[in-house]
Amino acid sequence: MHLFHILRFTFLTCFTYASVQVSFSNRLKTIEEVYNFKNEVKINVDLKNDTEVNDPSTTIPPHVNFHNSHLNTEEDPIFTYNSSYCPIEEWNNVRTDSIPYADRHKLWAELNIGQAKYLYHESFALLAAFAHSDQIIVTMTSENQFNKTVYCRYYDCRRKEIPDQFETVVYPESTVFCARRPGAKYISISETLEEKPEYSVPIVPRVEKPPHYFTVCMATLYGDEPKFLQIVDFIEYYKLQGATFFHIYLRNVTDYDRVLLDDYVRTGDIEIIKMHDPYWRDDFMWHHVQINDCHHRSKYFSKWTALIDIDERMEMRSDSYKTVTSFLDTIHDPNVVNLHFKIQWIIKEFNTPERYENDEQLIEEMIFHKYQNLSRVGTFWTQPKCIIRPEKIGMMTIHAPLAIYSGIRRSLVNHEIAVVRHYRNVEQRVFRGAYQKMMNHAPFNISPIAEWIDRKLTSSILNRVKWVYDILDVNCDQKQSIYQRHGKLNASCWVEQQQLNDLDPSLGGTNASLFTEEEMTFASQATSEVSPPTETSEPSETSSVNTFSTENDKNAFKAPESSEKRSEQFRPSTPTQDTANTIENNQINPENDKNWVLP
Ligand SMILES: *[C@@H]1O[C@H](CO)[C@@H](O)[C@H](O)[C@H]1NC(C)=O
Ligand SMILES: *[C@@H]1O[C@H](CO)[C@@H](O)[C@H](O)[C@H]1NC(C)=O
Ligand SMILES: *[C@@H]1O[C@H](CO)[C@@H](O)[C@H](O)[C@H]1NC(C)=O
Ligand SMILES: *[C@@H]1O[C@H](CO)[C@@H](O)[C@H](O)[C@H]1NC(C)=O
Ligand SMILES: *[C@@H]1O[C@H](CO)[C@@H](O)[C@H](O)[C@H]1NC(C)=O
Ligand SMILES: *[C@@H]1O[C@H](CO)[C@@H](O)[C@H](O)[C@H]1NC(C)=O
Ligand SMILES: *[C@@H]1O[C@H](CO)[C@@H](O)[C@H](O)[C@H]1NC(C)=O
Repeated sequence: MHLFHILRFTFLTCFTYASVQVSFSNRLKTIEEVYNFKNEVKINVDLKNDTEVNDPSTTIPPHVNFHNSHLNTEEDPIFTYNSSYCPIEEWNNVRTDSIPYADRHKLWAELNIGQAKYLYHESFALLAAFAHSDQIIVTMTSENQFNKTVYCRYYDCRRKEIPDQFETVVYPESTVFCARRPGAKYISISETLEEKPEYSVPIVPRVEKPPHYFTVCMATLYGDEPKFLQIVDFIEYYKLQGATFFHIYLRNVTDYDRVLLDDYVRTGDIEIIKMHDPYWRDDFMWHHVQINDCHHRSKYFSKWTALIDIDERMEMRSDSYKTVTSFLDTIHDPNVVNLHFKIQWIIKEFNTPERYENDEQLIEEMIFHKYQNLSRVGTFWTQPKCIIRPEKIGMMTIHAPLAIYSGIRRSLVNHEIAVVRHYRNVEQRVFRGAYQKMMNHAPFNISPIAEWIDRKLTSSILNRVKWVYDILDVNCDQKQSIYQRHGKLNASCWVEQQQLNDLDPSLGGTNASLFTEEEMTFASQATSEVSPPTETSEPSETSSVNTFSTENDKNAFKAPESSEKRSEQFRPSTPTQDTANTIENNQINPENDKNWVLP
């Protein structure tokens, strides 16, 4: 019946290791003593006493202390390793002495294809590394190291250098192709064999059949426009198009926006690649290295990859293919390696909102609701966007591949099949002339997105945004009872409530210690000038109106708005005006209501 009864095994009182010894606390020597000991027994780990002798084995008696009963005779074999354990996994037991397409790279270099000579880096500034069956691709954020002869430096799982370097060149720009080395888990690059290379980066295996079919690279996020609504729209939109993973490049966003990104990391939808190195560059100057990195990062990760900006939506236009993946599924020609889409512009006059307020606000602010004035279709050569087969492309740029390993460089997709809807913010223009370029594509016509996408997208955006930002509040008593469990801390809302009670005798507080009679008289005929008498509260225009109004009934009082943070947390058990509003808003569109309910 009890598990103790069946525990019959032998046990040593002392495990002897190389330099330490392990013994039971409370001067217990035998397992029998441990089992019969009333209190919890601990194990002491001490320096080894060589003269100590192991006791003989013992049989376990039936009645034992619960905490002393979970004993093992042997370590789980998975964990029988020490700090120097560094195995070579099967996928990584590969050595090569050349890189594929080396001749072609040499030819391209001679033709000077892809030299950037951009910015002022004084080192390579490694970004990432990916192991393929026949090479390791290292990406960098420098854009001025073209054709430089370098050495690949390999490190094992303990970052110990594997002294088997490989000579190669920086080609294409921001990229180094290295040979494979058994056991290499980290890699760096140096110009000479003598110098100490910069920090090594982990080698990410890409040696299996790609785990994804269609993924999306989002160009670097930066700038002052609030992003959370655009990010959730982007990700949820492309999920509806069949995308299953997103590489999101990040320079900076607000802390508020970052919460959403991190939530997508949590659920395995995205990876965030932080764009940073110790060299000067303005935020918008990350675009080329972002494209280059995502091109290589997507090889053997996905069959198809779209390289696009946060404000671009690939849109299927024919009845035959409703989603991007249903269209991609029809492509079987191995020479189609880069699908090229034309653009239509939409004038976007305003920034998207900084924060979620309520469902009605969010639905109204969704960019596909707010902005529908669409330009004519551009030509194939005005800022087109691409979906590529990453492993077939030799060099990628923002709008098209520069060089390819196999297939045809350009497959132009007729605009009756698909276009890219490009929302152009006219408020924040980095590039002069962009506005005029867009206006050249007049006339503009109102053209909403397909009804089924609108419906599904609205609902999935609401669900995610509410999951992330619509924090479920509880009342002040509930908060106070939790705070009290932490060394009798007080909830700030509770303190505030106490102060109010103290201030207004009708609310049942005691006034004796804090206020003079004069002050209390003043408080009881209170008008809007009254503010709570503490240092932390500042007076405010509207503060006490609700609090002291005679019309205000029993518990439906509101905390003064004088200290903003506190009143945010303060929620009386009866709904305040705020919560009443939210409930009302929820009911405004009863049709869609069911879709907004959290999963
Ligand atoms: C080592 O163990 C022996 C025998 O138990 C004991 O006499 C001796 O004092 C111990 N030495 C130390 C340094 O603890
Ligand atoms: C770690 O384990 C290995 C293999 O079992 C062994 O050869 C090595 O000596 C151990 N190293 C240390 C420091 O205990
Ligand atoms: C690249 O380097 C090779 C050898 O170092 C050299 O022969 C070639 O001219 C270089 N190409 C360019 C475009 O600099
Ligand atoms: C990003 O950083 C720049 C300067 O480094 C700053 O001016 C800008 O406000 C930041 N943007 C956001 C959204 O935090
Ligand atoms: C669409 O944009 C054009 C060009 O700015 C403008 O003339 C037109 O009035 C807009 N249409 C609507 C319905 O806003
Ligand atoms: C919480 O409030 C009570 C009553 O005002 C007070 O006695 C106590 O000291 C406060 N606790 C802390 C940790 O400030
Ligand atoms: C509170 O103030 C009122 C009005 O000034 C006074 O009559 C009353 O005695 C005070 N209460 C206590 C407990 O001192």
